Amino acid sequence: AAAPAPDRDLDGLRVLVTAGGTREPIDSVRYVGNRSSGRMGFALAERAARRGAEVTVLAANVALPRADGVAYRDVETAAELADACAAAFPACDVLLMAAAVADFRPVDPPDGKIKKDADAPDTIRLERTPDILGGLAERRTAAQTVVGFAAEHGDGALAYARGKRERKRLDAIVVNDISRPDIGFDARENEVTVVTAERELALPFAPKEEIADAILDEVVRLRARGGS
Ligand code: CTP
Ligand code: CA
Repeated sequence: AAAPAPDRDLDGLRVLVTAGGTREPIDSVRYVGNRSSGRMGFALAERAARRGAEVTVLAANVALPRADGVAYRDVETAAELADACAAAFPACDVLLMAAAVADFRPVDPPDGKIKKDADAPDTIRLERTPDILGGLAERRTAAQTVVGFAAEHGDGALAYARGKRERKRLDAIVVNDISRPDIGFDARENEVTVVTAERELALPFAPKEEIADAILDEVVRLRARGGS
């Protein structure tokens, strides 16, 4: 058979992307959040769809334009993202877990708004959230490709990422060094290393669309090789 046209090389592939950052309520108006804009995840979704994939995005608090031909579902908290992932993961071929998921959330947030003339709350009690990606990877099939993302700080970033890839049983982890002010969170560009079992691919500073295409290229290579 003829090779697929390079611009439609993901034809028929079902890609699930998580994007943005979760918000964990303190009360009904306040939350614990993070600085993820959703740009990397949305770029991955847009590029994958352009290349022929059937793309679903689980968007956690993303205020960015949406691409035609991509299905978006909005979530707010880590718990909502976990539920949405559990529902969508079995039917996907590729998971790109770009969302920044809160590691901790306030315990039992009250309904309504905490008033300032009430007793000042001097602490907010936190509990761990479940590791969504780790849980999904445990239930994966051999035909699925699972990619994590890690924002690491400074020296040791790659070593931490290698450990996470193995611990979470991922095919690949995409790591960026957030000690650099010009890339990563809320930036239009990124510079990442894609860590797989076979190699570590350093992608030089580029717009997130280009980084997205290079990550998708690596996914194609991994799948051609038959998984991890
Ligand atoms: N992740 C997840 N559920 C969580 C935390 C993280 O699914 N509760 C996912 C992220 O979406 C990302 C990957 O795990 O794809 C790595 O996230 P990261 O924050 O780098 O790793 P953690 O395991 O949370 O470790 P730490 O934050 O302590 O470095
Ligand atoms: Ca984390």
